[in-house]
Amino acid sequence: MRIDLADRTVLVTGAASGIGLACVRAFLAEGARVGMVDRNALPDMAGDVLAVYADVTDEQSVADAIATVTRRFGRLDVVVGCAGISGPVGKPLAETSAAEVAAVLAVNVTGQILLVKHAQPWLAEDAAVVLLGSDSAFTAAPGMVPYCASKGAVVALTRALAVEMPGVRVNCVCPSVVDTPMARGDLGDVLDNPDFPVQAADDVARQVLFLASPAARPINGQAVLADFGMSARSAFPA
Ligand SMILES: NC(=O)c1ccc[n+]([C@@H]2O[C@H](COP(=O)([O-])OP(=O)(O)OC[C@H]3O[C@@H](n4cnc5c(N)ncnc54)[C@H](O)[C@@H]3O)[C@@H](O)[C@H]2O)c1
Repeated sequence: MRIDLADRTVLVTGAASGIGLACVRAFLAEGARVGMVDRNALPDMAGDVLAVYADVTDEQSVADAIATVTRRFGRLDVVVGCAGISGPVGKPLAETSAAEVAAVLAVNVTGQILLVKHAQPWLAEDAAVVLLGSDSAFTAAPGMVPYCASKGAVVALTRALAVEMPGVRVNCVCPSVVDTPMARGDLGDVLDNPDFPVQAADDVARQVLFLASPAARPINGQAVLADFGMSARSAFPA
């Protein structure tokens, strides 16, 4: 399948680690130009790539990062919002503070909105935005109330942004567990020999590239739930 992303200019947040870094590698491999954005140190990469510091919860920082990337490349065709935190995973709700809830929503929800707000002036008719949601928007495990709420919001804001910006496609990917530093931090050694299906960051990057590509031209405002069918089973006893 032709993916037609060569010479496109892509901005990826959360680019220092995990899924964001896998997306950077995948877009570069397709011949795209990539602006890597993160609040942590970014690795050196070969190719037409620019590393920019930003904290996605800080509006001026987001605006400055987009200005830096567009000054270098002159355009923006694809925006990928991977920056995210899992928050107090495993903590009972009774012990979860308002500050912890606010911190998760600031990165996972406000950060995505600020990203698209400041990218919007650069996004032309055939541009694409892909945000990182999660299967936690659709199914829940105990001890993840703030994270689940934040990812439900990503699905809703994906639809809202698609309606807000005619001509720009906005979709989100919603993977189940992906073996990244975030998941390792939450699940630890369980990921060495998991008894549940696990994706690699490169798997998710391929989903992101498809949604960003002209091959996904009719797909807009959608959440692609990639959970190995875990959420598909009904309670019907057959
Ligand atoms: N790993 C999983 O199992 C999984 C599953 C579903 C969805 N996701 C989502 O995928 C996205 C990427 O997660 P990951 O697993 O690659 O995590 P990760 O921790 O490996 O990478 C996240 C990156 O986001 C950056 N970041 C965090 N807060 C930021 C901020 N305020 N400003 C700028 N950068 C910031 C971090 O520095 C880091 O480089 C997240 O939105 C996450 O919720 C992950």
